[in-house]
Amino acid sequence: MFLVRKYAIDKQSGQLLLDWAKPYENFVYIKERDIAVFLSKGSKKNELSGELVARKDFAHSDDLIQKMVRLIKEEFHHFEQVLEIMHSRGIEYQNVRAGRYAKGMMKEVRTHEPATLIDKLIVGAFIEARSCERFAKLAPYLDDELKKFYISLLRSEARHYQDYLTLAQAISVTDIGDRVAHFAAVEAQLISSKDQDFKFHSGAPVIAACI
Ligand SMILES: [Fe+2]
Repeated sequence: MFLVRKYAIDKQSGQLLLDWAKPYENFVYIKERDIAVFLSKGSKKNELSGELVARKDFAHSDDLIQKMVRLIKEEFHHFEQVLEIMHSRGIEYQNVRAGRYAKGMMKEVRTHEPATLIDKLIVGAFIEARSCERFAKLAPYLDDELKKFYISLLRSEARHYQDYLTLAQAISVTDIGDRVAHFAAVEAQLISSKDQDFKFHSGAPVIAACI
């Protein structure tokens, strides 16, 4: 959502995106946590309330909008699906601090355009691809409902990482292979080195942290 707002649309359209995110943001950050109300069909979530107008000064606006809006929609939907499952299993929603993973890669993002955008898209691709891999690895160990759900998620993640990479290459005038290789090395370090914090994208768990 940040990338679409920063590069592809004007301020007015940006407000439509912010409005779209508002119920989710309120739920997570302002802690308006009536799950039943949040999940009720009439609550009008996951709908953009108008047409986004592409900025003409960026050649890839339309492509970025089209791919990212679909991705955002799916991620919001996944969030609701997770809440539904948690609700049905009597698990309370709690805020969780972000691990080191995404931050560790964002540190490597170059600070001039269009390199910043290209690198951020590559980072996005790694986050999605790693989710895809971990959902696949975990699915066989879960009960039927979660197994099915994880497999549906990994299918989306596989599409998401390809969307990010396709965008990165379309925007870059040179081959992005060297940047992908760079982030692959950084990412490998983050997922394989010891990590005290046990999260979906964490490194090798330190046993005491998992108990
Ligand atoms: Fe995703």
